[in-house]
Amino acid sequence: MKKNAYTVAILGATGAVGEVMREILAERNFPVGELILLASERSAGGTLDYAGKTLRVHDAEQFDWQGVDIGLFSAGAAASEIYAPRAVAAGAVVIDNTSRYRYEDDIPLVVPEVNPQRITDYRQRGIIANPNCSTIQMLLALKPIADAVGLERVVVSTYQAVSGAGNRAIQELGRQTLGIFKQEDVPPSVFPKRIAFNCLPQIDVFQENGYTKEEMKMLWESRKILEIPDLALTATCVRVPVFYGHSEAVNVVTKEKLSADGLRQLLAKAPGVELLDEREPGAWPTALDAAGKDSTWVGRIREDCSHERGLNFWVVADNIRKGAALNSIQIAEMLIRDHL
Ligand code: A2P
Repeated sequence: MKKNAYTVAILGATGAVGEVMREILAERNFPVGELILLASERSAGGTLDYAGKTLRVHDAEQFDWQGVDIGLFSAGAAASEIYAPRAVAAGAVVIDNTSRYRYEDDIPLVVPEVNPQRITDYRQRGIIANPNCSTIQMLLALKPIADAVGLERVVVSTYQAVSGAGNRAIQELGRQTLGIFKQEDVPPSVFPKRIAFNCLPQIDVFQENGYTKEEMKMLWESRKILEIPDLALTATCVRVPVFYGHSEAVNVVTKEKLSADGLRQLLAKAPGVELLDEREPGAWPTALDAAGKDSTWVGRIREDCSHERGLNFWVVADNIRKGAALNSIQIAEMLIRDHL
């Protein structure tokens, strides 16, 4: 028999994503019977608010997962490695927002607007992986193009907000920015160089091929989610001094010719996408416009003057919402609608 309320645990409840997960569960009236907040022993014992109630934060290490229906995980890959098997063994379904399980063949990697049909594969391991934030927003725009005219090659450059690196990174940008006006030096600790008034062309660790892991994630995850195993995609990922909202400049070469107007028509009906694309000052989306919103915004659509089948566009979304918490909760909504 279908339940009318679910026991939900958030692992990483005190973090940048965990905080917004709590907000979105309440905002979307997710049928939560009990909400359990988990973090490390550092913040266990503290309290956080949820839907007008004050809830205690528990130490994940001491937690018994019996009775949990859904685990929303956003505490880093190392924590997912430890706690996902425990949660699954106790009968929970884990929706994991870290990179720990994304590339395993028997674990579905899901963007609800793009490949909702894969959710059912959770039955194999009890885990559904939530993709990387930069991949999710790009794929909302690429999926309709892939379906309509095919993708020959994708070149993407990202302009990524510090919130993607967590609360300490948000604080580092804030403290360094204030420091500059007060002529105080605030040395970097989260990022390798100063992020305030700067752009850093490294996100995550370097790989043997010279790309960073963030850049390779965009390739690996796009291939898996679009189910195009030989998709040609190259990314350059850059951290910029923005608090919330990732921006991306995307260039695609399609297999069949698609005009700029044709792309506008496709994206106008793409789920989760909003167009803001006039050729007037300010009539394009920015990170500030997207922050706090659910949609992925596309603008600056134009034909590539260097290639007959090329198109350029600009994609912006709130990296903590659509890039993480919202995408996970949309997955949870489909999971309970169809399976639990
Ligand atoms: P804590 O507050 O106890 O450090 P952010 O992405 O903003 O950096 O947040 C990371 C989140 O993941 C925080 O809630 C943090 O809890 C939690 N976390 C990090 N490591 C662990 C761990 N080993 N076990 C449980 N929670 C963890």
